[in-house]
Amino acid sequence: MSEKSFQDKVALVTGAAAGIGRATALGFAKEGAKVVVSDVDDAGGEETLAMIRELGGEGIYAHADVSSLEQVDALFDTLKKTYGRLDFACNNAGIEGAHVPTADCTLENWDRTIGINLNGVFYCMRRELELMAPAKSGVIVNMSSIAGLKGLANMPAYVASKHAVVGLTKTAALEYAGIGVRINAICPGGVATPMVERMTGGDPEIMAQYAAMEPVGRMGRPEEIADAVIWLCSDKASFVTGSAIPVDGGVLAG
Ligand SMILES: NC(=O)c1ccc[n+]([C@@H]2O[C@H](COP(=O)([O-])OP(=O)(O)OC[C@H]3O[C@@H](n4cnc5c(N)ncnc54)[C@H](O)[C@@H]3O)[C@@H](O)[C@H]2O)c1
Repeated sequence: MSEKSFQDKVALVTGAAAGIGRATALGFAKEGAKVVVSDVDDAGGEETLAMIRELGGEGIYAHADVSSLEQVDALFDTLKKTYGRLDFACNNAGIEGAHVPTADCTLENWDRTIGINLNGVFYCMRRELELMAPAKSGVIVNMSSIAGLKGLANMPAYVASKHAVVGLTKTAALEYAGIGVRINAICPGGVATPMVERMTGGDPEIMAQYAAMEPVGRMGRPEEIADAVIWLCSDKASFVTGSAIPVDGGVLAG
C-alpha cells in the first residue's frame, strides 16, 4: 500500500495497549490515519499513543472497558467530540478466560469472557455503525480467532464468544453491505503477545509446543495480524465483506 493512504481518516482500536491491538494502532498511524487508542490499561495505552507520536502520527488515548455500556458510550462521545467522524474500527479487545472444561466453567468466567469478547464488540459496533451508516462509508474489523471457526477443548467461554463474533460480523455485514459499510472478522492463529505469554506462563517449552501447532512452524507476530486489518480497511479489499478470514499460519487448513 502507498504511504499515508489513510490521510484524513480516523481509526479506532480497542485493546490497543498491547499485542495485536497496539500493532494495529501503529499500522493505522503509519498509513496516516488519526488513531483513537482505547484500553483499560491506561499506562499501556498512553505508551501506544507515544509510539504513534514518535512515528509522526496523531491520535488520542481514551480509557474504556468494552464490557461496560456506559464506558463505551463515553468513549464514543469523546471520539465524536474530538474528530466528528469514524472511518475504520478494529474491535480487538479480548481476554482468554479460564482454561477449564465446560462443566467447570464458572458463571463468573462465562459472564466476564462473554462480556468483554462478545458484548464489547456489540456495544462498540452499535456506536460505530451510528457514525458510519449516515456517512455511507466505513470499515469494521472484528478480532475473532481460529476459536471462532473450530472448537478448542477447555476454552468454552472463549470459543463461544469468538464463534458469536463471527455470526455477528456476518449479520451486520449483510445489513450494511448495500450502503458502503464493510464488516469482516479476522481469525488469528497463535500470535506471540502478552495473552499467549499468560497462557503459557512464559515457559519456553510450552511456547515451543504452541509454535509447533502452527504448520509454518512458528507463532505469528502481532504485525502480521495488523497488516491484515490494514488491508481489509483499504480500498484493495473493496469487494470483501462478511468474511471471517483466518490469518493462522495454516492451522485451519488441517
Ligand atoms: N494472541 C493470540 O494468539 C490470539 C489468537 C487469536 C485471537 N486473538 C484475539 O486478538 C485480540 C488481541 O489479543 P492479544 O493476544 O493481543 O491480547 P493481549 O492480552 O496481549 O492484549 C489485549 C488488550 O486488550 C485489553 N483489554 C482486556 N480487557 C479489556 C476490556 N474489558 N476493555 C478494553 N480493553 C481490554 C488489554 O488491556 C490488552 O491491552 C483478542 O480479542 C484475542 O482474543 C489473539
